[in-house]
Amino acid sequence: MSIEIETLGSAAGARLHGADLSRPLTDNVFGEVRQALLDHLVIFFPDQHLTPEQHKAFGRRFGTLNVHPHVKALDGHPEVLNIVKEPEMRLNFGGGWHSDMTFLEKPVLGSILYARVLPRAGGDTMWANMYAAYDALSGGMKRLLDGLVAIHTADGIYGSGGVYSTNKGMETMAHEQAADRAEHPVVRTHPETGRKLLFVNPAFTVKFKGMSREESRPLLEFLTRHATEARFVYRHRWSVDEVGFWDNRCTQHYALNDYPTERRVMHRVTVDGDRPY
Ligand code: SIN
Repeated sequence: MSIEIETLGSAAGARLHGADLSRPLTDNVFGEVRQALLDHLVIFFPDQHLTPEQHKAFGRRFGTLNVHPHVKALDGHPEVLNIVKEPEMRLNFGGGWHSDMTFLEKPVLGSILYARVLPRAGGDTMWANMYAAYDALSGGMKRLLDGLVAIHTADGIYGSGGVYSTNKGMETMAHEQAADRAEHPVVRTHPETGRKLLFVNPAFTVKFKGMSREESRPLLEFLTRHATEARFVYRHRWSVDEVGFWDNRCTQHYALNDYPTERRVMHRVTVDGDRPY
């Protein structure tokens, strides 16, 4: 059996019909899913019925699973993040542009999100295509960025003074020390497609190597504004029981926080990646 692919957005996004993720994928279907991820950057599977074990087994087809150093997991399943926003919480998890865990030396390959409870309206997620953002830069800017290395840290988000430390309901996510720090090329080559892309994000990229934060800020801010222009973005309206899988190497994403009186619960399995070059 093969899957049917419905393109959702011009920047990114496709819905895959005909795959049952609760069962082991045949090599053929696995190959089609993998190719769809490379072609569309974020792919969705409607109407899936997964136990945490089946969710993890699907993720393991793509690599080893990550255990997040700072975020609480589902009881008994350290590899499954339990992403909950209660009505009384002010902040949501992932409510700003970011690529997952770029503070690691080997940032993750991708994340697989399973929609469990959704607000009646709102709670969409947006993805930005970082290949397209790079391609659209001028030749002069590409030459400038090609030689740069950026510093990524976890501290501003997960550290004791970080975003999640002071907000009701998220205290459990903050760590006394979120000292993770990594250096990555600003322009990365995707290890599977061979395409170049912009690899900075406002959550974890704090500066360029050899420059101060103040010196780096204007260019980092420009790159975020540029990369998240509407022409590079796909916005997804979730349905319950849907699975979304994004290629974290070539996208940034943003979970919208626009459902103040409602609850939203997502489970996330995250696949380990490799060292950017
Ligand atoms: C995340 O950044 O992993 C969360 C995305 C979402 O909840 O939509």
